[in-house]
Formats: sequence, C-alpha cells, structure tokens
Amino acid sequence: DFLEVAYLLIFGELPNKEQLEKFDQDIKAESHVDEEMKKILDGFPKSAHPMGVLSSLTSALVAFNPTSVDVSSEEAMYRSIVRILAKFPVLVAWTMRKKMGLPLDYGDDSLGYVENIHKMMFKRPNKEYTKNKVVIDALDKLLILHADHEQNCSTSTVRIVGSSHAGLFASLSAGISALWGPLHGGANQAVLEMLQAIQEDGGDTKKYMAKAKDKNDPFRLMGFGHRVYKNFDPRARIIKKAADEVLGDLGIEDPILEIAKGLEKEALEDDYFVKRKLYPNVDFYSGIIYRAMGIPVDMFTVMFALGRLPGWIAQWREMRLRKEPIGRPRQVY
Ligand code: ACO
Repeated sequence: DFLEVAYLLIFGELPNKEQLEKFDQDIKAESHVDEEMKKILDGFPKSAHPMGVLSSLTSALVAFNPTSVDVSSEEAMYRSIVRILAKFPVLVAWTMRKKMGLPLDYGDDSLGYVENIHKMMFKRPNKEYTKNKVVIDALDKLLILHADHEQNCSTSTVRIVGSSHAGLFASLSAGISALWGPLHGGANQAVLEMLQAIQEDGGDTKKYMAKAKDKNDPFRLMGFGHRVYKNFDPRARIIKKAADEVLGDLGIEDPILEIAKGLEKEALEDDYFVKRKLYPNVDFYSGIIYRAMGIPVDMFTVMFALGRLPGWIAQWREMRLRKEPIGRPRQVY
C-alpha cells in the first residue's frame, strides 16, 4: 500500500512486518498538528487556492517544529520525515474542510494511513464515517502512482532548496509551489476545467482538437504530452481503469469521462499527436476519479502533492545523505 511504497522510496527497500509496524506507529505518534496552526489557516479567505494554503501551512510547520530543521544525525532526519508524513495529511484535510465549511478534525489512529486520510477529508460532523473499499483502493492506487517521478520540476525544486540546508518542511513548501503550475501538477485541475468547458460548449471534441493543433491558438490539450514519456504514460492506463471502477461502484455516469475517452481516441488517431508522440499523461483521468469522490476541482493538485510527498522526501534525504553541495545551475547567456 501507499505507506509501504513510501517506506520503499525513502529507505530503499520494502519494510518487513516489524519495520512497517514501527514506521506506522512513529508516524501516528506525530499526527497532532499544533492548534495554533488553525489561526494561520483561519487568516486565508475561503477562495484561496488550496495549493497556496498548503504551501504556506507546510512552511508554517517549521515554526511549531523548530527542531525539524537541524538534521545532522540520521535519527534527527528520521524524526523530521515521520513528522511530516504524519502532519501533512492533516494539513491537506484541513485545507479542504475549510474550503467546504466543515469543522476541522484530527485523524483516527486506529485506521490505516490512506483510510485515515479519506476519513479526515470527508467525515461529516453529524454522520458516521463509512469506509468504501473501492474508493479507498482507488485513492491508494492514485497516491502510489504519484509517489515519485525522478527529476521533474517540483522534485528538482525540493532538492535545490534542500541543498541550502533550509530544512525538509521549507523544501517541501517550495516543491508544492512548483507543482502548482498547470504545466506540472496543476494539469489535473486544468484537465477537468477543460473537459467541463468542452461539455458546456456542446461536447464538440473535434473543435477542441483543432484548437490544440492550431499554432495561433494558445490552447493545449491538457493532460496530454510528457517531457519523458514519448510512447504512453503507463500511469494513465491504470488510472483510466480505476476511473471506470470507481464511477461504476458509486453509480455515477459522468459525461466528462466519455468526453475524455473520446478525446483520447481522436488524439491517438491524429497525425499531429502521433507525430509529436503526445499521449494521455497521469493527469488526464485522475481528476475524474477525484471529482467522483467529491473532492473540489482546485483540491486536485493538493492530492497530487499528497501522493508525491514520499518521493520528495526520498530525494531530499538522498541529497542530504550524499552531502551534496549547494545547488547552483550554470546559466548560459
Ligand atoms: N497539446 C497540443 N500540443 C502539444 C501539447 C498538448 N498538450 N503538448 C505538446 N504539444 C506540442 C507543442 O506545441 C510542440 O509542437 P511543435 O513541435 O510543433 O512546436 C510539441 O508538441 C512539443 O511540445 P513541447 O512543449 O516542446 O514538449 P515538452 O516536452 O517541453 O512539454 C509538457 C511537455 C509541458 C507536458 C507539454 O506536453 C504540455 O504542456 N502538456 C499539457 C500540460 C500537461 O498535461 N502537463 C502535465 C504533465 S505530467 C506532470 O507534470 C505531472
């Protein structure tokens, strides 16, 4: 599951039963977020973009955990890592709950990591929380698929900020800002907004395909293309299947899924996309699942950040353990 994958990425191997148990317990022991943090959250308007809120709260965590910055021993590094793995989901849930006008809540340590995330996000004050296995499994899968992806924009940002020894939380906060942009993690929000716009415009996918190919039109088919994957993003296949499963289980018929499938089919047969090796990427179908789960569209990139957290941590830890020098890209004028 996602927690095992987090362990694998951070420490280089899958945990055995005891190691996993200890990791889980250490995280649970840190799952409290200082109440004063709520005042900071309170200062944001409800209309604030959740990625800005999350980046700010992650940075603010440093003030409440000042010892997390000095990671001169591996033990101190471990403590910073379990702290953020514990507190980050709370910040994610609070960011969404504030947006939705729901009271802020803490997790339930008796639950598994992903189930607890789901509960923290969706528990209604006047309703018993009920677990939906298909939804939790899909969330687990989405988080795993987003967990790491080599030197992309946000990961390189985390490493370069961390290389100044600014501390894990500050480095992550910078990574969240990098992920925010629509050419990177923000694409999952942009995809859904694009699909909604196409639907509202009568569902004419051909019109939008033509726009995407028109060099005088800035429109791009969001969720298509990837700097590295030039022959399909394997994550998109798994997510497409999960979208069918979740929507089927919840009994949702979302016309947007049909528009997405239509666009994919047309693009895969279109010379422009074939020649440029443009295929659906990880973001193309993920938003459809998040929407079915009841997550607001501007929270989608926050879900990406939640999934990417272990990868960012692993890359930061590797960089620190290797005692890499401060990052300083050469610039060619
Ligand atoms: N729609 C239409 N045309 C596209 C698209 C697209 N989504 N993506 C690339 N192209 C075209 C470009 O116009 C260019 O055409 P040209 O050669 O005629 O000038 C060609 O394909 C190559 O495009 P680049 O921008 O040079 O490719 P690059 O590898 O630099 O960019 C990127 C990759 C940023 C992902 C790009 O494909 C894009 O903007 N996609 C849409 C946004 C998106 O989905 N981002 C998420 C990526 S996954 C992630 O970060 C988690």
